[in-house]
Amino acid sequence: MTNLKSILAGCFMTAVSVTSFAQDVQITLHPDKAENVIPKEIYGQFAEHLGRCIYGGIWVGKDSEIPNVEGYRKDVFDALKTLEVPVMRWPGGCFADEYHWMDGVGSQENRPRMVNNNWGGTVEDNSFGTHEFLNLCELLGCEPYISGNVGSGTPEELAKWVEYMTSNSNSTMAELRRKNGREKAWKVKYLGVGNESWGCGGDMLPEFYSDLYRRYAVYCRNYGDNKLFKIASGANANDYNWSKVLMNKIGTGRMDGISLHYYAVRDWGTNPDGTGRKGSSLVFTNKEFYEILSKSLGIEDCIKGHIKELDKVDPNKKVGLMVDEWGTWFNVEPGTNPGWLYQQNTMRDAIVASTSLDIFHKYTDRIKMANIAQVVNVLQAMILTNEKNPNDQCVLTPTYHVFRMYNVHKEAKHIPGEITCDKIQVNDREQVPTVSFTASTKNGVTTLSLTNIDLEKSHVVAVNIDGKKVAVGESEILTAKDVHAYNDFGKDNVHPSPFKDAKVKNGQLIVNLPAHSIVNVVLK
Ligand code: AHR
Repeated sequence: MTNLKSILAGCFMTAVSVTSFAQDVQITLHPDKAENVIPKEIYGQFAEHLGRCIYGGIWVGKDSEIPNVEGYRKDVFDALKTLEVPVMRWPGGCFADEYHWMDGVGSQENRPRMVNNNWGGTVEDNSFGTHEFLNLCELLGCEPYISGNVGSGTPEELAKWVEYMTSNSNSTMAELRRKNGREKAWKVKYLGVGNESWGCGGDMLPEFYSDLYRRYAVYCRNYGDNKLFKIASGANANDYNWSKVLMNKIGTGRMDGISLHYYAVRDWGTNPDGTGRKGSSLVFTNKEFYEILSKSLGIEDCIKGHIKELDKVDPNKKVGLMVDEWGTWFNVEPGTNPGWLYQQNTMRDAIVASTSLDIFHKYTDRIKMANIAQVVNVLQAMILTNEKNPNDQCVLTPTYHVFRMYNVHKEAKHIPGEITCDKIQVNDREQVPTVSFTASTKNGVTTLSLTNIDLEKSHVVAVNIDGKKVAVGESEILTAKDVHAYNDFGKDNVHPSPFKDAKVKNGQLIVNLPAHSIVNVVLK
């Protein structure tokens, strides 16, 4: 206890300027307390009909000259396969509450066109619909997460969609699916009942939404052995009242999950010409770097606030907290459509990703899923494709590499621990720690992931291993000379490489962590 107290004191009280010295970071791990398994769904993705996420990102169509697997861009498909995506949310986002699924089934030539009002007024030809999405999930081996239309749809429309996808009966909906080329029902577990119902999904008050949720959920049935996991549209960031009302009015028996959206964004409004003032994804000062980190790390307090509300009604933690939108949000790249949310991705994004995942791992008794926004070409993307030269090989972003490196934590037991480290003063109100960590164990292998948030100094991390005989296995590092480094078409500047700077000495693991780096240390 004394030890824990002094550790917490070191971490939370003073030390506003950073001094680098030998073993300046101490981590204490508790392998004996490793109980919670990290759900693989924490590594979920999100694909919205927004900009070039679906069209030009995932889907090019079977007749495209771009190499494809049944219409899915081959390089993107292969990269997602390597990533072992566990779950993918679709079709939105804000798009979901204007989406009418019947427009996206049947022969592609005859599908009606619609205006994508949320995202740049682009005309959507509906060539990517239910079959194209669910078949992609099957090919990737990931769970589909369908986001249903509550804002502008009807309970009947959503009920029929569930029946169309999951019923093996001879009902009209199941027969229609067969006529459209799919004999066997798909397995669909996750169903979102609306999206951002407090905003683009209907601008509702939580009391009204709660009633609507109850009504819609009644008609979303389980067909055969398909068991739906129903997710209520949750809060925007720290709107704890939204969670409170939903927990009280919907209650634990009717929903399996409640979502949370939290973006690492600093928003200074809009310029007179309509362009955003969220800062550039590529050009930023050290101060702006730390400001974004402070914002992204703020998700921990936000999670705690919502968990507090959920715990009051659901102490046995039956309802999962699903962080089904998170990530960085910057200005679009100059010259691109402002409604398409296309941004580049640097080592800064990688650090936001690793440190956010570190936080999610700590609350897996409540957090059952997280979906970074978004998978291709939108916001903090895993993958980018070239708008001007679509034949160019796709780019794997630094964030992609973090997800690939962190795969090792999926379904591993989380090892709790504490850290003593210095803090960096961001401004007169905010500080960020110099180092973030997470650890897990699976099949006798322990992986410790460390992120050095400090842009200027390396840190020497000492980790207790209680004198256990461990050997350092093949370890990896993701870093670059400059935190602004990013990958571009034909330029692979940021990728993981072997890491050798970890050793066991005097009963401790000692890791030398370079500035702005992410390291996976494997212990056997
Ligand atoms: O991810 C982009 C948008 O952000 C989503 O459509 C919406 O749900 C959120 O506001």
